Amino acid sequence: MKAVVLGSGGWGTALSQVLCDNGHETTLWSHDPAKAEQVAKTRENPLLKGVRLPDALRVTGDLACLAGADLVVCASPSFAVRETGRKMAPYLTERTVLVSVSKGIERDTNLRMSQVLTQATGGVCRVAALSGPSHAEEVGIRLPTGCVSACQDRETARFVQDAFMNDYFRIYTSDDIVGVELCGAMKNVVALSCGICDGLGFQDNTKALLMTRSMAELTALGEHLGGTRRTFGGLAGMGDLIVTCTSMHSRNRRAGILIGKGMTAREAMEEVGAVVEGYYAAESIHQLAEKEGVEMPICRCAYEVLYQGRDIRSVTPELMGRAKKDELLETTWL
Ligand SMILES: NC(=O)c1ccc[n+]([C@@H]2O[C@H](COP(=O)([O-])OP(=O)(O)OC[C@H]3O[C@@H](n4cnc5c(N)ncnc54)[C@H](O)[C@@H]3O)[C@@H](O)[C@H]2O)c1
Repeated sequence: MKAVVLGSGGWGTALSQVLCDNGHETTLWSHDPAKAEQVAKTRENPLLKGVRLPDALRVTGDLACLAGADLVVCASPSFAVRETGRKMAPYLTERTVLVSVSKGIERDTNLRMSQVLTQATGGVCRVAALSGPSHAEEVGIRLPTGCVSACQDRETARFVQDAFMNDYFRIYTSDDIVGVELCGAMKNVVALSCGICDGLGFQDNTKALLMTRSMAELTALGEHLGGTRRTFGGLAGMGDLIVTCTSMHSRNRRAGILIGKGMTAREAMEEVGAVVEGYYAAESIHQLAEKEGVEMPICRCAYEVLYQGRDIRSVTPELMGRAKKDELLETTWL
C-alpha cells in the first residue's frame, strides 16, 4: 500500500517508521522543505533524537507525494490541521483513507480534529482517528505500545488497524471516534494540572486523586458530546491519561510543573519551547462544559489559573472543600 504521513514532528516521524516496518511504500512530508531535505540527508529527525530512519522511508517537502496514496496520516499539531487539510484536499479521492493522529480541539469552532479534516477536505474521503498512550520517543525505538483506531465505519477502522499493527504496535478498533478523539484532546488539560500538582510539591496520593476525579469530569462531558462512557476507561482514555500524567516526555506536564513552581502560563510555554496543546484545550473544554451545562470543577480551576491569572494556591482548598459526595451514586465514569 502507498502511505503518506503529513507532519514531520516526533509523532509523524515515528508513525512513518511503523508503516515502513510494515512494508508499506511510505513518504514523510514536512511543511518546511528545508527540514525535509535535512532529514532526508541525515536520516535523523532532531524531533525524534537517536532514531535512524529506515532507508526505505522517503522524506519530502513536495505535496505531489500524495498522488495515488491509499492511506494519508495527518500528524500536524492541532492548530495547523485545518491548513494541512486544505493543502492535501486536491490529492484525495473517495478511496483514500485519512487518519487523524493530532490531539486537540480547534479553537473558535471547538471541533474535533477529524471534523476539521472532513470540513477542510470537503468530505471527499473516509476519516479515522488513531489515539492512545503512545510517546513518539518509545514507538521510535519500537517499545511495545497500544492504540485505538476509531471510525464510525468499522471496516475503515480495521483498514487502519491492518496498516499499523505489528509486533510492537498493537491496535484495537472502535466505532466511537467521538469518545476517542475527545479523550486525546482533554487529557492534555489533566496532564497540565498534574504537572501543576507536582510543581506545588504534592505527591502520589494527590496525583491519583486528581487523575481519577478528572477522568470522571471528562467522561461526563464526553458523554454529553456523544462519546461512549466505556471509551474513557480504555486505551484512549485512562491509558493515555496515565501515560501523559506520569511521564516527563509530556510537554503538557512539564509546562504544568513550571506553573506550579510559580511561572505564568505564557512563561512556562516559552520555557518548554513547543506547542502545549493542553493550554488551548483548557479553553475549549471550559466553553463546551458551559454550553452543555456539565459541572467540571477541576477543569474550571485549570482554566481560571491558565487564563484568568487565578492564584494556584487558592485551588486546593476549593477542590478539597467541595460538598460531600457518594462516589458511585454521583460519578458517571465509575
Ligand atoms: N509526540 C507524541 O508522542 C504524540 C503522540 C500522539 C499524538 N501526538 C499528536 O501529534 C501531533 C503532532 O505532535 P508532535 O509531537 O509530532 O509535534 P512536534 O512538536 O514534534 O512537531 C511539530 C511539527 O509541526 C510542524 N509545524 C509547525 N507549524 C506547522 C504548520 N503551520 N503546518 C504544518 N506543520 C507545522 C513543525 O515543523 C514540526 O515538525 C499533536 O497533535 C500531538 O498531540 C503526539
